[in-house]
Amino acid sequence: MGIYFDEKRSVFRLSTEHTAYFIGITDGKYVGHAYYGGPMEDCGCGYLMRAGEKPKPPSENPWEKASFADSYPFEYPAWGVGDYRESCLCVRTEGGHRCAELFYESHRIVSGKPGLPGLPATFEREGGGEAETLEIVCKDPVLGLKAVLRYSIFGDSDALARSVTLTNEGEENLYLEKVLSACLEMDNEGYELLTLNGSWARERHMEFSKLRHGFQGVESLRGVSSHQAQPFLALTTPDVGQDRGEVYAFHFVYSGNFSARAELTQFDTVRMTMGIHPDGFEWTLAPGESFTAPEVVCVYSDRGLGAMTRTFHDLYRNHLIRSPYLHRKRPVLINNWEATYFDFDKERLLEIARRAKEDGVEMLVMDDGWFGKRDNEHCSLGDWQVNERKLPGGLRALSEELKAMGMKFGIWLEPEMVSRDSELYREHPDWAIRIPGREPAMSRGQYILDLSRPEAADYVYQAVSAVLRSADISYVKWDMNRQMTDIGSAYLGREHQGELCHRYVLGVYRLQERLLREFPDLLLENCTSGGGRFDPGMLYYSPQIWCSDNTDAAERLRIQEGTALLYPLSAIGAHVSICPNHVNGRVTPFETRGYVALGGTFGYELDVVRLSDEERQAMRDQIALYHKYQELVREGDYYRIASVRENHEFDCYLAAAKDGSEALVTYVQETARSNYHSRRIRLAGLLPKERYVCTETGEEFSGELLMRGGLLVPPLPGDHAAKLWHFVKK
Ligand code: DGJ
Repeated sequence: MGIYFDEKRSVFRLSTEHTAYFIGITDGKYVGHAYYGGPMEDCGCGYLMRAGEKPKPPSENPWEKASFADSYPFEYPAWGVGDYRESCLCVRTEGGHRCAELFYESHRIVSGKPGLPGLPATFEREGGGEAETLEIVCKDPVLGLKAVLRYSIFGDSDALARSVTLTNEGEENLYLEKVLSACLEMDNEGYELLTLNGSWARERHMEFSKLRHGFQGVESLRGVSSHQAQPFLALTTPDVGQDRGEVYAFHFVYSGNFSARAELTQFDTVRMTMGIHPDGFEWTLAPGESFTAPEVVCVYSDRGLGAMTRTFHDLYRNHLIRSPYLHRKRPVLINNWEATYFDFDKERLLEIARRAKEDGVEMLVMDDGWFGKRDNEHCSLGDWQVNERKLPGGLRALSEELKAMGMKFGIWLEPEMVSRDSELYREHPDWAIRIPGREPAMSRGQYILDLSRPEAADYVYQAVSAVLRSADISYVKWDMNRQMTDIGSAYLGREHQGELCHRYVLGVYRLQERLLREFPDLLLENCTSGGGRFDPGMLYYSPQIWCSDNTDAAERLRIQEGTALLYPLSAIGAHVSICPNHVNGRVTPFETRGYVALGGTFGYELDVVRLSDEERQAMRDQIALYHKYQELVREGDYYRIASVRENHEFDCYLAAAKDGSEALVTYVQETARSNYHSRRIRLAGLLPKERYVCTETGEEFSGELLMRGGLLVPPLPGDHAAKLWHFVKK
C-alpha cells in the first residue's frame, strides 16, 4: 500500500491491497487518468491516456488543441476550452466569461488524512491502518485560481477518498457555478449502471440499467440527499454478482443536493462524475478565499458487489463513524410513534415503558408531540418548550420516573424546522427559507429555518442544548420532515443566494458538531421523514440512521438490502412494529419482523400494552436474540446470499465474525409454495477447513460443505415465514 511518484514518467501510483490508481501528467501540465483497477505496479501505463495517439497533445500539435481537450481523460475537467463532456468545474469571471483551464503546478505526498473544513470526511483512526494523501496542485494562471486535487488511501482499506479545494489567488471575485468533487474516465467494457432509487417508504431499491450514449445518473435537488436518490453511482460489468464481476463505485459524503452522472462518449469512453448539483448553485469566491468540495469515496472491486459492500462497511466503521457507540451495544428501545402518534401524556408513556421494561426493553423514546401545543403536525416546531399539560413536571420528571424503573430516556426533535403556526415564526418570519414577495410552499405545515443565518443557527443550538440539559436524555432522534422549496435567504446578499443550499447543509453539520461536542455521550439517530437523509455525511455525526418509515418486514427486506449494499448493519435503524402494518396493511409473522429488525439496530415501534401474551413472549425471545447476536451483527462481515428482489421467492443474508468463528444466517421466504423441494443456499465468510455446529439443531458441518455444498432449507409454512441459523466453529 502506498503512494509513489515515478518522476521519469510523470506518473503517480496509489496502491491498496487489491487496487491501483494511476494518474499521469501530459506535456508537463495536463493531469490525466491512466488506470483504475486491480493491483498493478508498472508505472509505464501513461500510454493508456492515449496522449501519444491522434489527437496528439498540444506540445506536438498546437493546431488541434480542441480535439485533444475533447478526448483527453482529465482527472478534473473544466468547462470552456473544448472538453464537451461532463465537466467538474465552471467558473465565471467579473467580466462574465466562463472558462477555466487547470495546469499541473506541483504535488506533495503526505502521511495522514487532512480533515475538510466544516465538512464530514473520512479520517485516520489511531490503530486503524495508516493513511497517506496525494495533493496535486493545479493552477489557472489567467483566473488566478488554484485547485488542490486530493486523494487519500488507508492501510486497511481498498477505498480511495477524493476531494478538491479551490482558492482564489487573483484580484477579482470568481463565481463558481459548478464544483464537482470527482471524475473517473475509462473505456466502456459493456458497463451497466447501478443506482439506489426510491421514494418515501420505499427507499434505496437497487436498480441496474444499460449504459447508453449520452448522460445518465441520479441526482437530488431537494436540499437533502433524499428518499428518491442515494448519492451513489456504480458501473458494473454485466456479469456482476456478489462474488464475481467488476465494480467502480462512487459514494458522496454529503447530505444535500448532488449530481452523479455517467456519460458514454462518442469514443466509447465512460466519464463518471459526482459532486454538489450545479443547478441553483453559485459560490462567490473573493480574493484569498477557498472553497472545499465534499469528499467522494471511490471503491473498485474485481470480486463483485460483495467485496465492494464490505469495503464500504469497513471504511465507514473504521474511518467515518466517530460516535462512541460505534462499538458499543445500543440499548433496546421502544418508540411511541406508531403506538400513540400525537395522542399521549406522561401516564400513557410510563405505562408503555413499564410494560416494555418487563419484556426487556431498555429505553423509551418519546417521539413527536411533547412540546408547544403540538397535537398534530401543523404547529409548534421551533417552540421547544415542554407541553406541561401532557407532561406535568416536564422532561425531568418523566426522565426521573423512567430512571427509577431502570429505563433510559430518548426524545424526538426536529431542530431545522419552524411551523407556520409557532411563536418562533411569528417573531422571526425572515428566519425561514423563502423568497421575498412570494408565499413559500408549506409542507407538513412547516418551513425550513435558514441555517446560513448565524442567529437562527444559534437559536436552534441554544434551544436544543437547553432541552438536552433539562433532563437525563441518552438519545435523540433528529428528524427533518420536508424538502426544500422557495430557495431564498433574507440574510444572504444578492451575490450569495446561490450558496444557500450548501450553506444550509454546512449549518446542519455545524449544529450537530457543536451539540456532540457538548454532549459527547449522546446517542444520535438521524432521520428524515424515514430514510430521506441516509448518507455518509450524516453517518459522520450519528452512528445510526432511521432507515424508513416503512416497518413492514417484507418491504424492509428490499429497503435493507439496498441500504446494506453500502452501510454497515450497525447503522441501519430497524424496529419491530404492529400488524396490519401502518404503511401498507400487510400482515407478517411477529417472529419474522423480529428477525428482519435484528439486521439493523433493533427496537420496537408499537403499543406493547395491546400485545397478546404470546406476542410479549415473542418479544422477550427476540430481545434475548438481540443480546446474543448484536455484537456479531454490529462488528461482523455482511454477505448477501440471495435476494428476493431477484428471485421473487426468498431473501437470505448473513453476518460472519471477522475471524470466521461464527455466523448468523437470516432466511425469509416471500410466499409459501406447496409440494416444494428444499432449497439449497450456499453460505459465505466461513473457514473452509473448520467444523461448525448449528446452535439450533446441533448438526455439524465443515465450513467447506456449508459454503460449497450449501444448507438445505425445507419449505417453511406460511407466507413471510423466516428462519435464523447460528453456526459456531468447534
Ligand atoms: C417522521 C419519522 O420518520 C417518524 O418516525 C416520526 O418520528 C414522525 N416523523 C414524527 O413526526
